[in-house]
Amino acid sequence: MSQELHHHTMRAVTYTGAGGREVLSVEDLALPVPGTGEVLIKVTAAGINRADLLQRAGNYPVPEGASEVPGLEVAGTIEETGAGVGNWDFGTPVCALLAGGGYAEYVSVPAGQVVPVPDGVSLTDAAGLPEVAATCWSNLVQQAGVGRGDWVLVHGGTGGIGSFALQLLKALGARPVATAGSAEKVQRSLELGAEAAINHREEDFVARMKEITGGHGADVILDVMGAKYLEKNVAALAQGGRLVVIGLQGGASGTLPIGKVMGKNAVVTGTMLRPRPAEEKAGIMRDVAEHVWPLVTSGAIRTTTDAVFALEDVAAAQDRFEEADRTGKILLVTGETP
Ligand SMILES: NC(=O)c1ccc[n+]([C@@H]2O[C@H](COP(=O)([O-])OP(=O)(O)OC[C@H]3O[C@@H](n4cnc5c(N)ncnc54)[C@H](OP(=O)(O)O)[C@@H]3O)[C@@H](O)[C@H]2O)c1
Repeated sequence: MSQELHHHTMRAVTYTGAGGREVLSVEDLALPVPGTGEVLIKVTAAGINRADLLQRAGNYPVPEGASEVPGLEVAGTIEETGAGVGNWDFGTPVCALLAGGGYAEYVSVPAGQVVPVPDGVSLTDAAGLPEVAATCWSNLVQQAGVGRGDWVLVHGGTGGIGSFALQLLKALGARPVATAGSAEKVQRSLELGAEAAINHREEDFVARMKEITGGHGADVILDVMGAKYLEKNVAALAQGGRLVVIGLQGGASGTLPIGKVMGKNAVVTGTMLRPRPAEEKAGIMRDVAEHVWPLVTSGAIRTTTDAVFALEDVAAAQDRFEEADRTGKILLVTGETP
């Protein structure tokens, strides 16, 4: 990168306070300078995640040292490398998992969190992959040890995480079952690879899960509800089952039926990706590139882009994210919308 670029500013989104769409502002900020071990990415597109909306509402503190600019994932090209980073050439198409800073024209990120774009995926669609791929791989495979033939209950089968989880599980030979909030989303979950899908507004998922699995229950549950589903999730687990909580949409503290956990030799666990140390994120992204990207390239896992908005239209993009009929990912692009 030319020295001159350091004096340039970039367009970036900031939150001017905690609240709704009125706190969104697109501003000129100084270009980030990549530190030791970091690369500067010229952003083509950024993915929107639930965490960005929680942060906007003031319910998700920014981890220490992370950018105040929202955005946990991008795709783009290598613009510059910091000291100690030798293996990326200028202009290489990449995607990256971030601790923040994605809703911008440029972002600086530890090199270990940067991976090549899977073959066959556009630079725009690739922006929707790092966060969901890292979350699904680290929780389903590393945390819960999902194996072939395991029954896995995925709450919210058509969300960003859910859409990816169902496809990954099917590709790994597991037996995914989804919950979803409408007849259309039940249908979409089946298309994404669920063996069965349960309408969580109309059906009792504990009873349905027992029925679907012939009385066995869920070997693994990927939960995004937290407190509201804690007791029901434990009831839906099979012997030796693992419940992994990754979202708190139904509250942060509940009552854990410890006796049932003991009786089932079950594990109740949870993880949070964003504050994990850079080395751990790098390890996850290495695994993702090695084990998950080939599944994307083969077409076993498809990107699920719902809509693409210009960075300047971030308010409309986040509005769309919150609409009930949205499935899959919403992306922001720094250039022309496709
Ligand atoms: N811990 C971590 O590291 C980590 C990382 C990434 C994401 N997350 C969390 O994972 C969750 C999903 O993130 P996302 O970006 O995929 O958001 P998203 O696209 O908005 O997905 C949210 C999902 O929650 C489902 N849901 C809402 N109420 C439900 C209920 N009562 N029963 C079952 N499902 C319900 C929705 O399904 P319907 O619309 O069909 O009801 C939707 O599919 C969020 O809570 C996010 O904070 C955590």
